[in-house]
Amino acid sequence: MTTTFRAWQVEKQTDASGTATHTASVSHLTDDDLMDGDVTLDVSWSSINYKDGLALMGKPGVVRTWPLIPGIDAVGTVTATESDRFQVGDEVLMNGAGLGESHHGGLAERARVDSASLVRVPESLGAKRAAAIGTAGFTAMLSVLAVERHGVSPGDGPVLVTGAAGGVGSIVIAVLARLGFEVVASTGRVDSQGDYLRRLGASTVIDRAELSDAGKPLQSQKYPAVVDAVGSTTLVNALAQLTYGGIATACGLAQGADLPGTMMPFILRGVTLAGINSVDAPLSRREEAWARLATDLNTDLLDELTTRIALADARDAADQILQGKLHGRTVVDVRA
Ligand SMILES: NC(=O)c1ccc[n+]([C@@H]2O[C@H](COP(=O)([O-])OP(=O)(O)OC[C@H]3O[C@@H](n4cnc5c(N)ncnc54)[C@H](OP(=O)(O)O)[C@@H]3O)[C@@H](O)[C@H]2O)c1
Repeated sequence: MTTTFRAWQVEKQTDASGTATHTASVSHLTDDDLMDGDVTLDVSWSSINYKDGLALMGKPGVVRTWPLIPGIDAVGTVTATESDRFQVGDEVLMNGAGLGESHHGGLAERARVDSASLVRVPESLGAKRAAAIGTAGFTAMLSVLAVERHGVSPGDGPVLVTGAAGGVGSIVIAVLARLGFEVVASTGRVDSQGDYLRRLGASTVIDRAELSDAGKPLQSQKYPAVVDAVGSTTLVNALAQLTYGGIATACGLAQGADLPGTMMPFILRGVTLAGINSVDAPLSRREEAWARLATDLNTDLLDELTTRIALADARDAADQILQGKLHGRTVVDVRA
């Protein structure tokens, strides 16, 4: 008897005029519906990232082939493997690497993936916390590693974190605070999320409106480092507020994909703008980031910033993340 499993699927419909729409629903599939890969998993947890919001709500820009199982994060147990690196029964995780974009993703009870980007779940975290960290937390750690590689240390001054109450921002704050950095959190939700951000470790919470409108090319020098998930004018203002030789990491475009700035911070203050790409990160960088997440993220805080939902509720959460109403991280209990 063929066993079926539940999976979200995004399908494309094209009407008579040639206009395409994309809709997501829960289907019952079999292993024959999975794509190629050398490791097959029973998926236990996935999560809701901004990209998953776009995919599940039928928005363009993420899904590149149809029908597709969305979900850029998958955590599960190996049930079959052709890779020497893994054995049946291993708990593993995968972030990005095409999952939920060009390859069937984690919002399903089964997955078959390419082991080249597969990482063992750190024992100290376990499967649920690994999914709670997910792509957002992995990206957060890639950003922190870039700040460290630039040579910035806690004694150099406060670090600005934008998009603070979101998934990336929340985990950046928790990690930086644990490493001893003074953190300034920029949020559009000072009233509702200010206490939450201070509990994560922010020492100051500012209204994102201070950064969102066009400002002077060079502003007073405040931060040796900025971790930005917002882009657009916010990132331009953040660059203008870096101290001499400082660094801004850029991973997201919650405000916009534009960068309407000037050369001044680069040529007069020698600042660095470092792009962060989690999707194509090589295995060595993935393993480095996950090892650091296992040691440098306070799991009590991680639990506090995590909300658990069932598989069927993924689209409601997708709608909420696109409206900016979620905070922290949302994990999907794929078996519930
Ligand atoms: N480069 C990569 O590999 C990579 C990996 C993961 C994520 N990302 C990107 O990073 C960004 C953040 O991801 P996430 O998972 O943290 O998403 P998220 O949970 O939706 O958080 C985004 C946060 O950005 C802020 N924001 C939203 N709209 C804004 C606006 N118009 N102006 C200024 N701030 C705004 C909000 O924070 P407040 O409510 O605190 O203001 C929101 O919570 C997204 O663009 C995502 O696609 C990129």
